[in-house]
Amino acid sequence: MKYLFAACLSLSLLFSAPLRAEGQPILIKFSHVVANDTPKGRGALLFQRLVAERLGGAVKVEVYPDSTLFGDADEMAALQRGEVQMLAPSVSKFEAYTKQLQVFDLPFLFDDLEAVKRFQRREKSRELLRSMAGQNIYGLAFWNNGMKQLSATRELRAPADAKGLAFRIQSSSVLEAQFAALGAQAKRIPFGESLKALQAGTVQGTENAWSNMAAAGFDSAQPFITETNHGSLNYMLISSSSFWQSIPYATRSELEAIVEEVTTQVNKDAEQLNRQGREQLVGAGRARVIALSKDERAAWRSAMQPLWKQYETEIGADMLRAAQTVNRR
Ligand code: LMR
Repeated sequence: MKYLFAACLSLSLLFSAPLRAEGQPILIKFSHVVANDTPKGRGALLFQRLVAERLGGAVKVEVYPDSTLFGDADEMAALQRGEVQMLAPSVSKFEAYTKQLQVFDLPFLFDDLEAVKRFQRREKSRELLRSMAGQNIYGLAFWNNGMKQLSATRELRAPADAKGLAFRIQSSSVLEAQFAALGAQAKRIPFGESLKALQAGTVQGTENAWSNMAAAGFDSAQPFITETNHGSLNYMLISSSSFWQSIPYATRSELEAIVEEVTTQVNKDAEQLNRQGREQLVGAGRARVIALSKDERAAWRSAMQPLWKQYETEIGADMLRAAQTVNRR
């Protein structure tokens, strides 16, 4: 079985390795599902610019935002087949490949984005970048967006207010369980179809970072946003193992240095873009932003925290423990 798997992988590496005519630049198609003016969107464009400046002629990057090339439903398979070379899906979307990344989805596990970043620098979390290499998914870096907020067609001040509503979620069973804990339903809907689903009333609520809510215009269908900061939206920048390892060593090293530089910038931009996104939503006045008192927020935390125990076995007790040590309370 092991040999069969190895043989299949070698074959898939062979067939998905880029076929390049002599003298042609290596083409990297970078596809993602959000707008250009979001932390990830800007990161992709910065990567494109730096590659053009430093490796122009040798490598060419094409960026496809807003699910214009592939969306949530098909991007990972397209990467494995070699039809796209870079993606930055939210870590919530890797459930079919590893359960360990679910650690990032656990509500209220990380106090803030700084804690998430500390965790991402730890060895335990760096391991996750390579954990799917055997499935032809090669993690290059963690990129961050911001903390997630809840939005709905009605005011959500206490956990019981969410009861009976249906929420759009990313493809994650932890997020499904998070809403089940509130007595709410959850529907897995690709990001590119979320606004339509909210506008059509297929779902009455959702969660996301300020930057995405503002850029996608969720406030056109969500008159209430509750500032829960209950989780974070993080990405794994990935390529396929076959593609990445096919790049000549010197070029790959330069690309990896660029990735590191862009990662720092994305994480800086994330703070600013989320602040701006919040201001934009408040300024537009279509949605009312509800700030929670300390006690009100504690009630949301108590309602959702049982998930930590529920998912401990799948995620791994050691991974969970490592994540819990990064808060500075
Ligand atoms: C979502 O589906 O809500 C996010 O993962 C979108 C994104 O990539 O920021």
